[in-house]
Amino acid sequence: MPDPVSSRQRRALRLGLHFIRPYRRQVVLALLALVVTAAITLSMGQGIRLLVDQGFMTRSPHLLNQSIGLFMLLVLALAVGTFSRFYLVSWIGERCVADIRRAVFEHLIDLHPGFFEDNRSSEIQSRLTTDTTLLQSVIGSSLSLFLRNALMVIGGVVLLFITNPKLTSIVVLALPLVLAPILLFGRRVRSLSRQSQDRIADVGSYVAETFGQIKTVQAYNHQERDRTLFAETVEAAFDVARRRIFQRAWLITLVIVLVLGAVAVMLWVGGMDVMAGRISGGELAAFVFYSLIVGSAFGTLSEVIGELQRAAGAAERIAELLAARSDILPPDQDATSTIIRARGRIELQGLRFAYPSRPTIAALDNLTLTVEPGQTLALVGPSGAGKSTLFDLLLRFYDPQQGRILLDGQAVTGLEPTVLRRQFALVAQNPALFRDTVEANIRYGRPDATQAQVEAAARSAHADTFIKELPQGYQTLLGEGGIGLSGGQRQRLAIARALLVDAPILLLDEATSALDAQSEHLIQQALPGLMAGRTTLVIAHRLATVQHADRIAVIDQGRLVAVGTHRELLERSPLYARLASLQFAST
Ligand SMILES: Nc1ncnc2c1ncn2[C@@H]1O[C@H](COP(=O)(O)OP(=O)(O)O)[C@@H](O)[C@H]1O
Ligand SMILES: [Mg+2]
Repeated sequence: MPDPVSSRQRRALRLGLHFIRPYRRQVVLALLALVVTAAITLSMGQGIRLLVDQGFMTRSPHLLNQSIGLFMLLVLALAVGTFSRFYLVSWIGERCVADIRRAVFEHLIDLHPGFFEDNRSSEIQSRLTTDTTLLQSVIGSSLSLFLRNALMVIGGVVLLFITNPKLTSIVVLALPLVLAPILLFGRRVRSLSRQSQDRIADVGSYVAETFGQIKTVQAYNHQERDRTLFAETVEAAFDVARRRIFQRAWLITLVIVLVLGAVAVMLWVGGMDVMAGRISGGELAAFVFYSLIVGSAFGTLSEVIGELQRAAGAAERIAELLAARSDILPPDQDATSTIIRARGRIELQGLRFAYPSRPTIAALDNLTLTVEPGQTLALVGPSGAGKSTLFDLLLRFYDPQQGRILLDGQAVTGLEPTVLRRQFALVAQNPALFRDTVEANIRYGRPDATQAQVEAAARSAHADTFIKELPQGYQTLLGEGGIGLSGGQRQRLAIARALLVDAPILLLDEATSALDAQSEHLIQQALPGLMAGRTTLVIAHRLATVQHADRIAVIDQGRLVAVGTHRELLERSPLYARLASLQFAST
Protein backbone atom coordinates (compact mmCIF):
# COMPACT_ATOMS: atom_id res chain seq x y z
CA MET A 1 0.00 0.00 0.00
CA PRO A 2 1.31 3.43 -0.79
CA ASP A 3 -0.06 4.79 2.48
CA PRO A 4 2.34 4.74 5.42
CA VAL A 5 1.03 1.93 7.57
CA SER A 6 -0.05 3.22 10.97
CA SER A 7 0.05 1.19 14.15
CA ARG A 8 -3.73 0.94 14.04
CA GLN A 9 -3.60 -0.61 10.63
CA ARG A 10 -0.82 -2.89 11.70
CA ARG A 11 -3.00 -4.14 14.52
CA ALA A 12 -5.85 -4.69 12.10
CA LEU A 13 -3.52 -6.57 9.82
CA ARG A 14 -2.31 -8.74 12.69
CA LEU A 15 -5.88 -9.60 13.55
CA GLY A 16 -6.58 -10.56 9.95
CA LEU A 17 -3.46 -12.68 9.71
CA HIS A 18 -4.26 -14.39 12.99
CA PHE A 19 -7.59 -15.56 11.64
CA ILE A 20 -6.32 -16.40 8.17
CA ARG A 21 -3.37 -18.45 9.43
CA PRO A 22 -5.27 -21.72 9.93
CA TYR A 23 -6.20 -21.69 6.24
CA ARG A 24 -2.69 -21.38 4.79
CA ARG A 25 -3.30 -24.18 2.30
CA GLN A 26 -6.35 -22.46 0.82
CA VAL A 27 -4.46 -19.16 0.75
CA VAL A 28 -1.58 -20.68 -1.21
CA LEU A 29 -3.97 -22.26 -3.71
CA ALA A 30 -5.90 -19.01 -4.05
CA LEU A 31 -2.68 -17.07 -4.61
CA LEU A 32 -1.64 -19.58 -7.25
CA ALA A 33 -4.97 -19.21 -9.04
CA LEU A 34 -4.65 -15.47 -8.71
CA VAL A 35 -1.19 -15.33 -10.28
CA VAL A 36 -2.17 -17.73 -13.05
CA THR A 37 -5.29 -15.80 -14.02
CA ALA A 38 -3.41 -12.49 -13.91
CA ALA A 39 -0.68 -13.96 -16.10
CA ILE A 40 -3.20 -15.30 -18.58
CA THR A 41 -5.04 -12.00 -18.80
CA LEU A 42 -1.77 -10.19 -19.38
CA SER A 43 -0.63 -12.69 -22.00
CA MET A 44 -3.77 -11.92 -23.98
CA GLY A 45 -2.19 -8.66 -25.05
CA GLN A 46 0.50 -10.61 -26.84
CA GLY A 47 -2.23 -12.71 -28.42
CA ILE A 48 -3.92 -9.57 -29.69
CA ARG A 49 -0.64 -8.39 -31.20
CA LEU A 50 -0.11 -11.71 -32.98
CA LEU A 51 -3.68 -11.68 -34.15
CA VAL A 52 -3.49 -8.20 -35.60
CA ASP A 53 0.00 -8.37 -37.05
CA GLN A 54 0.08 -11.97 -38.32
CA GLY A 55 -3.57 -12.94 -38.70
CA PHE A 56 -5.20 -9.87 -40.17
CA MET A 57 -2.20 -8.16 -41.71
CA THR A 58 -0.65 -11.20 -43.42
CA ARG A 59 -4.10 -12.57 -44.26
CA SER A 60 -2.99 -16.17 -43.51
CA PRO A 61 -5.96 -18.37 -42.50
CA HIS A 62 -3.59 -20.97 -41.08
CA LEU A 63 -1.99 -18.53 -38.66
CA LEU A 64 -5.38 -17.16 -37.72
CA ASN A 65 -6.57 -20.68 -36.86
CA GLN A 66 -3.52 -21.21 -34.72
CA SER A 67 -3.93 -17.93 -32.90
CA ILE A 68 -7.60 -18.50 -32.22
CA GLY A 69 -6.88 -22.05 -31.02
CA LEU A 70 -4.32 -20.72 -28.59
CA PHE A 71 -6.76 -18.06 -27.50
CA MET A 72 -9.43 -20.64 -26.76
CA LEU A 73 -6.99 -22.66 -24.67
CA LEU A 74 -6.12 -19.57 -22.67
CA VAL A 75 -9.80 -18.83 -22.15
CA LEU A 76 -10.31 -22.35 -20.82
CA ALA A 77 -7.38 -21.99 -18.40
CA LEU A 78 -8.71 -18.59 -17.40
CA ALA A 79 -12.11 -20.12 -16.68
CA VAL A 80 -10.65 -22.80 -14.40
CA GLY A 81 -8.39 -20.27 -12.69
CA THR A 82 -11.14 -17.72 -12.18
CA PHE A 83 -13.49 -20.30 -10.71
CA SER A 84 -10.84 -21.52 -8.23
CA ARG A 85 -9.76 -18.03 -7.34
CA PHE A 86 -13.25 -16.73 -6.71
CA TYR A 87 -14.40 -19.79 -4.81
CA LEU A 88 -11.29 -20.11 -2.65
CA VAL A 89 -10.96 -16.43 -1.83
CA SER A 90 -14.64 -16.04 -0.93
CA TRP A 91 -14.47 -19.24 1.08
CA ILE A 92 -11.54 -17.91 3.09
CA GLY A 93 -13.44 -14.67 3.72
CA GLU A 94 -16.58 -16.41 4.94
CA ARG A 95 -14.60 -18.92 6.98
CA CYS A 96 -12.54 -16.26 8.76
CA VAL A 97 -15.61 -14.20 9.57
CA ALA A 98 -17.38 -17.24 11.00
CA ASP A 99 -14.29 -17.82 13.15
CA ILE A 100 -14.13 -14.16 14.19
CA ARG A 101 -17.80 -14.09 15.16
CA ARG A 102 -17.36 -17.19 17.28
CA ALA A 103 -14.14 -15.94 18.86
CA VAL A 104 -15.68 -12.60 19.80
CA PHE A 105 -18.84 -14.18 21.21
CA GLU A 106 -16.92 -16.83 23.12
CA HIS A 107 -14.70 -14.16 24.56
CA LEU A 108 -17.43 -11.68 25.48
CA ILE A 109 -19.76 -14.09 27.21
CA ASP A 110 -17.29 -14.52 30.08
CA LEU A 111 -16.68 -10.81 30.62
CA HIS A 112 -17.85 -9.07 33.78
CA PRO A 113 -21.40 -7.66 33.51
CA GLY A 114 -20.07 -4.14 34.05
CA PHE A 115 -18.51 -4.34 30.59
CA PHE A 116 -21.92 -4.49 28.99
CA GLU A 117 -22.98 -1.35 30.82
CA ASP A 118 -20.37 0.85 29.15
CA ASN A 119 -20.60 -1.07 25.90
CA ARG A 120 -24.24 -1.14 24.98
CA SER A 121 -25.14 -4.61 23.84
CA SER A 122 -26.60 -3.29 20.60
CA GLU A 123 -23.27 -1.72 19.76
CA ILE A 124 -21.60 -5.07 20.31
CA GLN A 125 -24.26 -6.62 18.13
CA SER A 126 -23.43 -4.17 15.37
CA ARG A 127 -19.75 -4.95 15.67
CA LEU A 128 -20.51 -8.62 15.38
CA THR A 129 -22.64 -8.12 12.29
CA THR A 130 -21.69 -4.95 10.40
CA ASP A 131 -18.00 -4.92 11.20
CA THR A 132 -17.54 -8.59 10.55
CA THR A 133 -19.45 -8.32 7.28
CA LEU A 134 -17.08 -5.57 6.25
CA LEU A 135 -14.13 -7.76 7.13
CA GLN A 136 -15.67 -10.60 5.20
CA SER A 137 -15.97 -8.49 2.09
CA VAL A 138 -12.36 -7.45 2.51
CA ILE A 139 -10.84 -10.84 3.15
CA GLY A 140 -13.26 -12.48 0.74
CA SER A 141 -12.91 -10.05 -2.13
CA SER A 142 -11.17 -6.71 -1.68
CA LEU A 143 -7.90 -8.26 -0.62
CA SER A 144 -7.87 -10.52 -3.65
CA LEU A 145 -8.97 -7.64 -5.88
CA PHE A 146 -6.13 -5.64 -4.44
CA LEU A 147 -3.55 -8.36 -5.12
CA ARG A 148 -4.90 -9.13 -8.56
CA ASN A 149 -4.95 -5.51 -9.61
CA ALA A 150 -1.54 -4.84 -8.13
CA LEU A 151 -0.22 -7.77 -10.17
CA MET A 152 -1.98 -6.36 -13.24
CA VAL A 153 -0.45 -2.96 -12.73
CA ILE A 154 3.06 -4.31 -12.25
CA GLY A 155 2.81 -6.92 -15.01
CA GLY A 156 1.06 -4.47 -17.31
CA VAL A 157 3.73 -1.81 -16.87
CA VAL A 158 6.50 -4.35 -17.49
CA LEU A 159 4.79 -5.54 -20.67
CA LEU A 160 4.19 -1.95 -21.73
CA PHE A 161 7.90 -1.30 -21.49
CA ILE A 162 8.62 -4.39 -23.54
CA THR A 163 6.06 -3.36 -26.12
CA ASN A 164 7.06 0.28 -26.42
CA PRO A 165 9.29 2.20 -24.00
CA LYS A 166 8.47 5.60 -25.40
CA LEU A 167 4.73 5.36 -25.01
CA THR A 168 5.19 3.76 -21.62
CA SER A 169 6.89 6.81 -20.22
CA ILE A 170 3.56 8.64 -20.70
CA VAL A 171 1.83 6.04 -18.55
CA VAL A 172 4.55 6.12 -15.92
CA LEU A 173 4.45 9.90 -15.76
CA ALA A 174 0.72 9.71 -15.18
CA LEU A 175 1.13 7.42 -12.16
CA PRO A 176 2.02 10.06 -9.53
CA LEU A 177 -0.88 12.17 -10.77
CA VAL A 178 -3.18 9.29 -9.97
CA LEU A 179 -1.50 8.43 -6.68
CA ALA A 180 -1.76 11.86 -5.10
CA PRO A 181 -5.57 12.10 -5.05
CA ILE A 182 -5.83 8.50 -3.87
CA LEU A 183 -3.76 9.33 -0.81
CA LEU A 184 -5.56 12.55 -0.11
CA PHE A 185 -9.12 11.31 -0.47
CA GLY A 186 -8.38 7.87 0.93
CA ARG A 187 -7.47 9.43 4.25
CA ARG A 188 -10.68 11.45 4.44
CA VAL A 189 -12.77 8.46 3.44
CA ARG A 190 -11.23 6.41 6.22
CA SER A 191 -12.05 8.78 9.05
CA LEU A 192 -15.59 9.26 7.76
CA SER A 193 -16.06 5.51 7.54
CA ARG A 194 -15.58 5.02 11.24
CA GLN A 195 -18.11 7.74 12.01
CA SER A 196 -20.46 6.17 9.52
CA GLN A 197 -20.29 2.82 11.30
CA ASP A 198 -21.00 4.42 14.66
CA ARG A 199 -24.06 6.22 13.33
CA ILE A 200 -25.40 2.98 11.89
CA ALA A 201 -24.96 1.36 15.28
CA ASP A 202 -27.08 4.17 16.75
CA VAL A 203 -29.84 3.38 14.28
CA GLY A 204 -29.75 -0.29 15.29
CA SER A 205 -29.93 0.39 19.00
CA TYR A 206 -32.78 2.85 18.58
CA VAL A 207 -34.83 0.27 16.72
CA ALA A 208 -34.07 -2.47 19.24
CA GLU A 209 -34.98 -0.31 22.21
CA THR A 210 -38.19 1.14 20.78
CA PHE A 211 -39.65 -2.10 19.50
CA GLY A 212 -38.53 -3.92 22.64
CA GLN A 213 -40.65 -1.52 24.69
CA ILE A 214 -43.45 -1.06 22.19
CA LYS A 215 -46.26 -1.18 24.76
CA THR A 216 -44.75 1.63 26.79
CA VAL A 217 -44.13 3.60 23.61
CA GLN A 218 -47.76 3.34 22.53
CA ALA A 219 -49.23 3.68 26.01
CA TYR A 220 -47.62 7.10 26.31
CA ASN A 221 -48.34 8.01 22.68
CA HIS A 222 -44.63 8.48 22.18
CA GLN A 223 -44.68 7.41 18.51
CA GLU A 224 -44.60 10.93 17.09
CA ARG A 225 -41.59 11.81 19.20
CA ASP A 226 -39.96 8.50 18.29
CA ARG A 227 -40.52 9.22 14.61
CA THR A 228 -38.73 12.52 15.02
CA LEU A 229 -35.88 11.13 17.10
CA PHE A 230 -35.42 8.14 14.83
CA ALA A 231 -35.49 10.39 11.77
CA GLU A 232 -32.71 12.44 13.37
CA THR A 233 -30.69 9.31 14.02
CA VAL A 234 -31.15 8.07 10.47
CA GLU A 235 -30.42 11.46 8.97
CA ALA A 236 -27.25 11.74 11.04
CA ALA A 237 -26.15 8.39 9.62
CA PHE A 238 -27.07 9.55 6.13
CA ASP A 239 -25.19 12.77 6.57
CA VAL A 240 -21.94 11.05 7.49
CA ALA A 241 -22.46 8.54 4.69
CA ARG A 242 -23.07 11.39 2.25
CA ARG A 243 -19.84 13.08 3.19
CA ARG A 244 -18.02 9.78 2.82
CA ILE A 245 -19.44 9.00 -0.60
CA PHE A 246 -18.79 12.57 -1.69
CA GLN A 247 -15.10 12.07 -1.00
CA ARG A 248 -15.16 8.70 -2.69
CA ALA A 249 -16.96 10.09 -5.71
CA TRP A 250 -14.19 12.63 -6.08
CA LEU A 251 -11.64 9.90 -5.72
CA ILE A 252 -13.17 7.71 -8.41
CA THR A 253 -13.85 10.58 -10.80
CA LEU A 254 -10.35 11.93 -10.57
CA VAL A 255 -8.85 8.53 -11.17
CA ILE A 256 -11.03 7.89 -14.23
CA VAL A 257 -10.39 11.29 -15.75
CA LEU A 258 -6.67 11.06 -15.18
CA VAL A 259 -6.37 7.52 -16.46
CA LEU A 260 -8.47 8.02 -19.58
CA GLY A 261 -6.76 11.33 -20.21
CA ALA A 262 -3.44 9.54 -20.22
CA VAL A 263 -4.88 6.91 -22.58
CA ALA A 264 -6.03 9.61 -24.98
CA VAL A 265 -2.60 11.22 -25.06
CA MET A 266 -1.06 7.82 -25.61
CA LEU A 267 -3.42 6.93 -28.47
CA TRP A 268 -2.59 10.19 -30.11
CA VAL A 269 1.18 9.67 -29.85
CA GLY A 270 0.85 5.97 -30.81
CA GLY A 271 -1.46 6.74 -33.73
CA MET A 272 1.13 9.18 -35.08
CA ASP A 273 3.78 6.49 -34.74
CA VAL A 274 1.70 3.91 -36.62
CA MET A 275 1.03 6.37 -39.43
CA ALA A 276 4.70 7.15 -39.63
CA GLY A 277 5.45 3.39 -39.73
CA ARG A 278 7.56 3.45 -36.56
CA ILE A 279 5.41 0.76 -34.86
CA SER A 280 3.03 -1.90 -36.13
CA GLY A 281 -0.74 -1.83 -35.74
CA GLY A 282 -0.51 -4.96 -33.55
CA GLU A 283 1.90 -3.21 -31.26
CA LEU A 284 -0.43 -0.28 -30.79
CA ALA A 285 -3.39 -2.62 -30.22
CA ALA A 286 -1.43 -4.57 -27.58
CA PHE A 287 -0.28 -1.32 -26.11
CA VAL A 288 -3.79 0.06 -25.77
CA PHE A 289 -4.93 -3.24 -24.31
CA TYR A 290 -2.22 -3.11 -21.65
CA SER A 291 -2.74 0.48 -20.80
CA LEU A 292 -6.48 -0.12 -20.41
CA ILE A 293 -5.69 -3.01 -18.11
CA VAL A 294 -3.22 -0.91 -16.12
CA GLY A 295 -5.67 1.97 -16.02
CA SER A 296 -8.67 -0.02 -14.87
CA ALA A 297 -6.53 -1.95 -12.43
CA PHE A 298 -5.44 1.36 -11.02
CA GLY A 299 -9.01 2.55 -10.76
CA THR A 300 -9.99 -0.62 -8.94
CA LEU A 301 -6.96 -0.30 -6.66
CA SER A 302 -7.98 3.14 -5.60
CA GLU A 303 -11.46 1.96 -4.72
CA VAL A 304 -10.19 -1.11 -2.99
CA ILE A 305 -7.76 0.90 -0.90
CA GLY A 306 -10.72 2.88 0.44
CA GLU A 307 -12.41 -0.39 1.25
CA LEU A 308 -9.31 -1.76 2.94
CA GLN A 309 -9.07 1.35 5.07
CA ARG A 310 -12.68 0.98 6.11
CA ALA A 311 -11.97 -2.60 7.05
CA ALA A 312 -8.95 -1.54 9.08
CA GLY A 313 -11.36 0.46 11.24
CA ALA A 314 -13.68 -2.52 11.58
CA ALA A 315 -10.82 -4.85 12.43
CA GLU A 316 -9.61 -2.41 15.02
CA ARG A 317 -12.98 -2.34 16.75
CA ILE A 318 -13.12 -6.11 16.75
CA ALA A 319 -9.58 -6.31 18.10
CA GLU A 320 -10.69 -3.97 20.90
CA LEU A 321 -13.49 -6.37 21.83
CA LEU A 322 -11.10 -9.31 21.80
CA ALA A 323 -8.63 -7.38 23.92
CA ALA A 324 -11.18 -6.51 26.63
CA ARG A 325 -10.27 -8.23 29.85
CA SER A 326 -12.69 -9.34 32.53
CA ASP A 327 -12.54 -7.53 35.86
CA ILE A 328 -13.56 -10.75 37.52
CA LEU A 329 -10.44 -12.81 37.50
CA PRO A 330 -10.21 -16.45 38.41
CA PRO A 331 -7.61 -17.20 41.12
CA ASP A 332 -4.01 -17.01 39.83
CA GLN A 333 -2.63 -20.20 41.27
CA ASP A 334 -4.48 -23.28 40.17
CA ALA A 335 -6.19 -23.08 43.53
CA THR A 336 -7.88 -26.43 43.37
CA SER A 337 -11.22 -25.17 44.60
CA THR A 338 -11.89 -27.22 47.66
CA ILE A 339 -15.60 -26.48 47.46
CA ILE A 340 -17.68 -28.87 45.44
CA ARG A 341 -20.97 -28.32 47.18
CA ALA A 342 -20.84 -25.57 49.79
CA ARG A 343 -22.40 -26.03 53.20
CA GLY A 344 -23.62 -22.50 52.78
CA ARG A 345 -21.99 -20.35 55.43
CA ILE A 346 -21.73 -16.80 54.13
CA GLU A 347 -19.65 -14.09 55.76
CA LEU A 348 -19.60 -10.51 54.59
CA GLN A 349 -16.71 -8.60 56.12
CA GLY A 350 -16.66 -4.82 55.92
CA LEU A 351 -17.95 -4.64 52.34
CA ARG A 352 -17.72 -1.36 50.57
CA PHE A 353 -18.77 -1.15 46.98
CA ALA A 354 -19.54 1.57 44.47
CA TYR A 355 -20.62 0.81 40.93
CA PRO A 356 -17.85 1.61 38.44
CA SER A 357 -20.17 4.07 36.69
CA ARG A 358 -20.76 5.95 39.98
CA PRO A 359 -17.48 5.63 41.82
CA THR A 360 -18.28 8.25 44.47
CA ILE A 361 -21.59 6.80 45.65
CA ALA A 362 -21.25 3.74 47.85
CA ALA A 363 -24.02 1.28 47.04
CA LEU A 364 -22.80 -0.79 49.98
CA ASP A 365 -20.92 0.71 52.89
CA ASN A 366 -19.06 -1.18 55.58
CA LEU A 367 -21.44 -4.09 55.55
CA THR A 368 -20.66 -6.97 57.92
CA LEU A 369 -23.01 -9.90 58.26
CA THR A 370 -22.87 -13.66 58.71
CA VAL A 371 -25.38 -16.25 57.59
CA GLU A 372 -25.08 -19.76 59.01
CA PRO A 373 -25.66 -22.82 56.83
CA GLY A 374 -29.32 -23.63 56.42
CA GLN A 375 -30.42 -20.29 57.82
CA THR A 376 -32.86 -17.98 56.13
CA LEU A 377 -31.92 -14.35 56.17
CA ALA A 378 -34.37 -11.76 54.95
CA LEU A 379 -33.07 -8.46 53.64
CA VAL A 380 -35.40 -5.54 53.93
CA GLY A 381 -34.95 -1.87 53.30
CA PRO A 382 -36.18 0.92 51.08
CA SER A 383 -35.75 0.66 47.36
CA GLY A 384 -32.23 1.61 46.33
CA ALA A 385 -30.80 0.49 49.67
CA GLY A 386 -28.36 -1.90 48.01
CA LYS A 387 -30.11 -5.23 48.51
CA SER A 388 -29.85 -6.44 44.90
CA THR A 389 -26.30 -5.12 44.78
CA LEU A 390 -25.41 -7.50 47.58
CA PHE A 391 -26.57 -10.43 45.44
CA ASP A 392 -24.43 -9.12 42.56
CA LEU A 393 -21.40 -9.22 44.81
CA LEU A 394 -22.20 -12.70 46.11
CA LEU A 395 -22.33 -13.97 42.51
CA ARG A 396 -19.16 -12.00 41.77
CA PHE A 397 -20.64 -9.92 39.00
CA TYR A 398 -18.61 -7.21 40.68
CA ASP A 399 -15.86 -7.27 43.29
CA PRO A 400 -16.09 -4.98 46.31
CA GLN A 401 -13.56 -2.17 46.65
CA GLN A 402 -13.09 -3.00 50.31
CA GLY A 403 -13.78 -5.98 52.51
CA ARG A 404 -14.36 -9.52 51.42
CA ILE A 405 -16.92 -12.25 51.11
CA LEU A 406 -16.26 -15.72 52.47
CA LEU A 407 -18.13 -18.85 51.49
CA ASP A 408 -17.59 -21.71 53.94
CA GLY A 409 -14.60 -19.76 55.23
CA GLN A 410 -12.99 -19.32 51.80
CA ALA A 411 -12.68 -15.99 50.05
CA VAL A 412 -14.91 -16.05 46.97
CA THR A 413 -12.10 -14.45 44.99
CA GLY A 414 -10.13 -17.66 45.54
CA LEU A 415 -12.76 -19.76 43.82
CA GLU A 416 -13.19 -20.43 40.16
CA PRO A 417 -16.17 -18.19 39.21
CA THR A 418 -18.02 -21.14 37.69
CA VAL A 419 -17.59 -23.16 40.89
CA LEU A 420 -18.73 -20.21 42.97
CA ARG A 421 -21.84 -19.58 40.90
CA ARG A 422 -22.80 -23.22 40.94
CA GLN A 423 -23.43 -22.79 44.68
CA PHE A 424 -26.21 -20.28 44.07
CA ALA A 425 -29.67 -20.44 42.60
CA LEU A 426 -30.86 -16.94 41.79
CA VAL A 427 -34.33 -15.67 41.19
CA ALA A 428 -33.66 -12.16 39.99
CA GLN A 429 -35.83 -9.13 40.57
CA ASN A 430 -36.76 -9.04 36.91
CA PRO A 431 -36.53 -12.69 35.98
CA ALA A 432 -35.04 -13.21 32.54
CA LEU A 433 -36.72 -15.65 30.22
CA PHE A 434 -35.32 -16.60 26.87
CA ARG A 435 -36.88 -17.10 23.48
CA ASP A 436 -37.37 -20.80 23.81
CA THR A 437 -39.85 -23.33 25.12
CA VAL A 438 -41.15 -23.23 28.69
CA GLU A 439 -39.33 -26.45 29.35
CA ALA A 440 -36.00 -25.16 28.04
CA ASN A 441 -36.40 -22.07 30.20
CA ILE A 442 -36.86 -24.15 33.35
CA ARG A 443 -34.02 -26.45 32.35
CA TYR A 444 -31.75 -23.43 31.78
CA GLY A 445 -29.33 -24.07 34.63
CA ARG A 446 -29.35 -27.82 34.35
CA PRO A 447 -29.70 -28.99 30.75
CA ASP A 448 -29.47 -32.67 31.65
CA ALA A 449 -32.47 -32.70 34.00
CA THR A 450 -35.11 -35.29 33.20
CA GLN A 451 -38.62 -34.37 32.20
CA ALA A 452 -39.85 -35.63 35.58
CA GLN A 453 -37.40 -33.37 37.43
CA VAL A 454 -38.49 -30.38 35.34
CA GLU A 455 -42.12 -31.03 36.17
CA ALA A 456 -41.37 -31.58 39.84
CA ALA A 457 -39.61 -28.21 40.00
CA ALA A 458 -42.55 -26.59 38.21
CA ARG A 459 -44.94 -28.13 40.73
CA SER A 460 -42.90 -26.84 43.67
CA ALA A 461 -43.02 -23.38 42.16
CA HIS A 462 -46.76 -23.70 41.56
CA ALA A 463 -46.16 -23.21 37.88
CA ASP A 464 -47.30 -26.65 36.79
CA THR A 465 -51.00 -25.79 36.56
CA PHE A 466 -50.70 -22.75 34.35
CA ILE A 467 -48.04 -24.37 32.17
CA LYS A 468 -50.37 -27.28 31.42
CA GLU A 469 -53.02 -24.79 30.37
CA LEU A 470 -50.72 -23.17 27.81
CA PRO A 471 -51.45 -24.17 24.19
CA GLN A 472 -48.49 -26.55 23.89
CA GLY A 473 -47.90 -27.10 27.59
CA TYR A 474 -44.22 -27.41 28.41
CA GLN A 475 -43.36 -27.08 24.73
CA THR A 476 -44.98 -23.66 24.37
CA LEU A 477 -42.58 -21.18 22.79
CA LEU A 478 -42.02 -18.00 24.75
CA GLY A 479 -41.30 -14.68 23.07
CA GLU A 480 -38.23 -12.63 23.84
CA GLY A 481 -38.13 -11.76 27.56
CA GLY A 482 -41.01 -14.13 28.27
CA ILE A 483 -43.61 -12.28 26.21
CA GLY A 484 -46.88 -14.15 26.42
CA LEU A 485 -46.76 -14.69 30.18
CA SER A 486 -47.97 -12.56 33.04
CA GLY A 487 -45.47 -11.15 35.52
CA GLY A 488 -46.49 -13.69 38.14
CA GLN A 489 -46.19 -16.57 35.69
CA ARG A 490 -42.73 -15.40 34.73
CA GLN A 491 -41.72 -15.31 38.36
CA ARG A 492 -42.97 -18.80 38.94
CA LEU A 493 -40.98 -20.09 35.94
CA ALA A 494 -37.92 -18.36 37.33
CA ILE A 495 -38.49 -19.98 40.71
CA ALA A 496 -38.87 -23.38 39.06
CA ARG A 497 -35.62 -22.81 37.22
CA ALA A 498 -33.84 -21.93 40.44
CA LEU A 499 -35.26 -24.94 42.23
CA LEU A 500 -34.20 -27.28 39.48
CA VAL A 501 -30.49 -26.44 39.77
CA ASP A 502 -30.66 -27.59 43.40
CA ALA A 503 -27.89 -25.31 44.63
CA PRO A 504 -27.00 -25.11 48.35
CA ILE A 505 -27.78 -21.39 48.50
CA LEU A 506 -30.97 -19.79 47.30
CA LEU A 507 -31.08 -16.10 46.42
CA LEU A 508 -34.56 -14.71 46.03
CA ASP A 509 -34.78 -11.09 44.94
CA GLU A 510 -38.37 -10.02 45.54
CA ALA A 511 -39.21 -13.29 43.91
CA THR A 512 -42.86 -13.15 44.81
CA SER A 513 -43.44 -9.45 44.22
CA ALA A 514 -45.48 -9.92 41.07
CA LEU A 515 -47.58 -12.76 42.38
CA ASP A 516 -51.22 -12.45 43.24
CA ALA A 517 -52.15 -13.10 46.85
CA GLN A 518 -53.32 -16.62 46.04
CA SER A 519 -50.13 -17.86 44.34
CA GLU A 520 -47.97 -16.01 46.76
CA HIS A 521 -49.71 -17.75 49.58
CA LEU A 522 -49.10 -21.11 47.91
CA ILE A 523 -45.45 -20.36 47.33
CA GLN A 524 -45.08 -19.03 50.85
CA GLN A 525 -46.32 -22.36 52.06
CA ALA A 526 -43.98 -24.24 49.77
CA LEU A 527 -40.97 -22.09 50.63
CA PRO A 528 -40.13 -23.63 54.02
CA GLY A 529 -39.82 -27.01 52.32
CA LEU A 530 -37.63 -25.51 49.59
CA MET A 531 -35.48 -23.64 52.04
CA ALA A 532 -34.93 -26.65 54.24
CA GLY A 533 -31.29 -27.66 54.12
CA ARG A 534 -30.44 -24.56 52.09
CA THR A 535 -29.05 -21.25 53.06
CA THR A 536 -31.52 -18.71 51.79
CA LEU A 537 -31.17 -15.00 51.32
CA VAL A 538 -34.45 -13.46 50.49
CA ILE A 539 -35.07 -9.87 49.60
CA ALA A 540 -38.63 -9.17 50.47
CA HIS A 541 -40.98 -6.30 50.70
CA ARG A 542 -43.81 -8.27 52.20
CA LEU A 543 -43.94 -9.17 55.81
CA ALA A 544 -45.38 -12.59 55.09
CA THR A 545 -42.04 -13.65 53.66
CA VAL A 546 -40.00 -11.85 56.25
CA GLN A 547 -41.73 -13.28 59.29
CA HIS A 548 -40.65 -16.81 58.40
CA ALA A 549 -37.00 -15.85 58.24
CA ASP A 550 -34.59 -16.82 61.01
CA ARG A 551 -33.19 -13.35 60.97
CA ILE A 552 -33.92 -10.11 59.26
CA ALA A 553 -31.31 -7.60 58.19
CA VAL A 554 -32.46 -4.01 57.71
CA ILE A 555 -30.40 -2.16 55.13
CA ASP A 556 -30.55 1.51 54.36
CA GLN A 557 -28.31 3.46 51.99
CA GLY A 558 -25.88 0.59 51.75
CA ARG A 559 -25.46 0.23 55.47
CA LEU A 560 -26.62 -2.45 57.82
CA VAL A 561 -28.99 -0.70 60.20
CA ALA A 562 -30.19 -3.57 62.38
CA VAL A 563 -30.37 -7.36 62.52
CA GLY A 564 -32.79 -9.48 64.46
CA THR A 565 -36.10 -11.28 64.41
CA HIS A 566 -39.33 -9.62 63.41
CA ARG A 567 -40.26 -9.05 67.04
CA GLU A 568 -36.88 -7.71 68.08
CA LEU A 569 -36.72 -5.35 65.17
CA LEU A 570 -40.18 -3.97 65.72
CA GLU A 571 -38.90 -2.72 69.03
CA ARG A 572 -35.35 -1.84 68.13
CA SER A 573 -35.42 -0.46 64.62
CA PRO A 574 -37.58 2.56 63.86
CA LEU A 575 -36.97 2.06 60.12
CA TYR A 576 -38.17 -1.53 60.32
CA ALA A 577 -41.18 -0.52 62.38
CA ARG A 578 -42.05 2.07 59.77
CA LEU A 579 -41.65 -0.40 56.88
CA ALA A 580 -43.77 -2.89 58.78
CA SER A 581 -46.55 -0.44 59.48
CA LEU A 582 -46.62 0.69 55.86
CA GLN A 583 -46.86 -2.95 54.85
CA PHE A 584 -49.78 -3.64 57.07
CA ALA A 585 -51.48 -0.49 55.95
CA SER A 586 -51.17 -1.31 52.26
CA THR A 587 -51.99 -5.01 52.27
N1 LIG B 1 -25.58 -1.06 37.36
C1 LIG B 1 -25.59 -0.02 38.19
N2 LIG B 1 -24.78 1.04 37.98
C2 LIG B 1 -24.76 2.08 38.82
N3 LIG B 1 -25.52 2.17 39.90
C3 LIG B 1 -26.36 1.18 40.18
C4 LIG B 1 -26.45 0.03 39.35
N4 LIG B 1 -27.36 -0.82 39.85
C5 LIG B 1 -27.84 -0.21 40.97
N5 LIG B 1 -27.24 0.97 41.16
C6 LIG B 1 -27.47 1.89 42.29
O1 LIG B 1 -27.05 1.26 43.48
C7 LIG B 1 -27.96 1.50 44.54
C8 LIG B 1 -28.48 0.17 45.09
O2 LIG B 1 -29.28 -0.45 44.13
P1 LIG B 1 -29.98 -1.86 44.36
O3 LIG B 1 -28.99 -2.77 45.00
O4 LIG B 1 -30.56 -2.29 43.09
O5 LIG B 1 -31.14 -1.46 45.39
P2 LIG B 1 -32.29 -2.36 45.98
O6 LIG B 1 -32.04 -2.37 47.45
O7 LIG B 1 -33.57 -1.66 45.66
O8 LIG B 1 -32.20 -3.71 45.36
C9 LIG B 1 -29.05 2.39 43.97
O9 LIG B 1 -28.75 3.71 44.34
C10 LIG B 1 -28.93 2.20 42.48
O10 LIG B 1 -29.29 3.39 41.82
MG1 LIG C 1 -33.44 -4.61 44.07
